[in-house]
Amino acid sequence: MAVAVDSFQFLLKETLSLFSKVRDTLAIVGALYAARRTLALSWRMYKAFKAHGLSRLTYQSHLCYYGSWAVVTGSTHGIGRAYAQELAASGLNIVIVSLGQEDCQLVADDLERTFGIETCVVAVDFDGCRDAYAEIKKSIEDKDIGILVNNVGVMYDYPQYFLDVPEQKLWQLFHVNVAAATVMTHIVLPQMVEKGRGAVVTVASGATSSLPTPQMTVYSATKAYLDYFMRALSYEYSASGVAFQCLQPFYVATRMTSYSATLSSPSLFIPSATTYARNALMTLGWSQRTTGYWPHTIQFWLTSLMPEWLWLWGSSRLNAALRRQAHQRIRHTSGGSRPSSQIFPSSASMDHFLSSPGRSLEVLSGGQLRSKAVDVQEAASQAMEEIEHRATNT
Ligand SMILES: NC(=O)c1ccc[n+]([C@@H]2O[C@H](COP(=O)([O-])OP(=O)(O)OC[C@H]3O[C@@H](n4cnc5c(N)ncnc54)[C@H](OP(=O)(O)O)[C@@H]3O)[C@@H](O)[C@H]2O)c1
Repeated sequence: MAVAVDSFQFLLKETLSLFSKVRDTLAIVGALYAARRTLALSWRMYKAFKAHGLSRLTYQSHLCYYGSWAVVTGSTHGIGRAYAQELAASGLNIVIVSLGQEDCQLVADDLERTFGIETCVVAVDFDGCRDAYAEIKKSIEDKDIGILVNNVGVMYDYPQYFLDVPEQKLWQLFHVNVAAATVMTHIVLPQMVEKGRGAVVTVASGATSSLPTPQMTVYSATKAYLDYFMRALSYEYSASGVAFQCLQPFYVATRMTSYSATLSSPSLFIPSATTYARNALMTLGWSQRTTGYWPHTIQFWLTSLMPEWLWLWGSSRLNAALRRQAHQRIRHTSGGSRPSSQIFPSSASMDHFLSSPGRSLEVLSGGQLRSKAVDVQEAASQAMEEIEHRATNT
């Protein structure tokens, strides 16, 4: 009996000592994990402070170092136009590469008048043939290009399921979002490498370029391409003296987000194009991969903490809500007609429609809608009726 008790106590002692070893090991693993997380967090905070804090010390003073000209693609509206203005304000001459000779010339005249700089206009359609690039190449070959801003980009008219996106829109996404940045970089980089200085900025997109985003599937995939492209390129040419930067903005209130009333009203988390461009430009030379705007960096951190399933679920719900908002806007403008997914021919984007005063939707046979010109007075009186109607109902 005494022997049995001894054995039991011995067994208990041995088991406890084994547990204490396991506990010690777990404590070490826990401490290492906590140290790793703390270091990672401190590193992120340092990088954010460098990009959004320290960078303000050198704002605008360093931009002319790269060269005397900047090329900005998609610079007639939105972020591209705001970037062109900020660069011009820093004293750089601007090559405007965008759609429509008239629009480009308007921007060029405005920049020359306001900032007293030189401009060069290259009106091209990136969704067209490859000749556009030959024209761009010719226009810039004699210029000291310091900064290239690969900004041009298109999105769906509003978040949609893959099969609802017209095929022509898919080609437009490939040509404008993927091909333009790639070929423009291929055209401009050689002279930068030769000089040993220059900067290539590419506008990708917030979490959408790091995480797959349902109902913006192809857009998100094209932006992921840009993110990978810039990351690998900056490694390949790390010794060249050229700075590479991939911007990952979240929502910015531009024509691209005009399908939603919420997204087109500027706020702290949805800046105007000017606020965004000013903040983003400050980070050039300070960060290779950034949202460009500190409230977006907070958003980026929060999304990077999410497991992928949660992001997929959350972004899908958000995009469904935004699509409903877009449908409501269209229905409201078209006097109650039910929108279908093929309502706009892909060449006539809803962006253009929503931002064009004096246009309305016409219901065609088969339920399709077409943008048509309306009488401005008639539209104004309709709007007044609507306001009065709402006022009576509230
Ligand atoms: N807005 C956002 O919330 C947001 C968020 C993340 C990333 N981004 C990215 O930021 C970039 C700029 O977007 P944004 O919001 O400023 O868009 P935007 O307001 O629609 O401006 C796009 C610009 O690109 C030009 N463009 C469009 N298609 C073109 C083509 N085929 N050939 C030549 N130029 C063309 C437009 O010219 P026209 O004016 O003549 O049409 C316009 O100047 C895009 O790459 C977008 O993906 C935007």
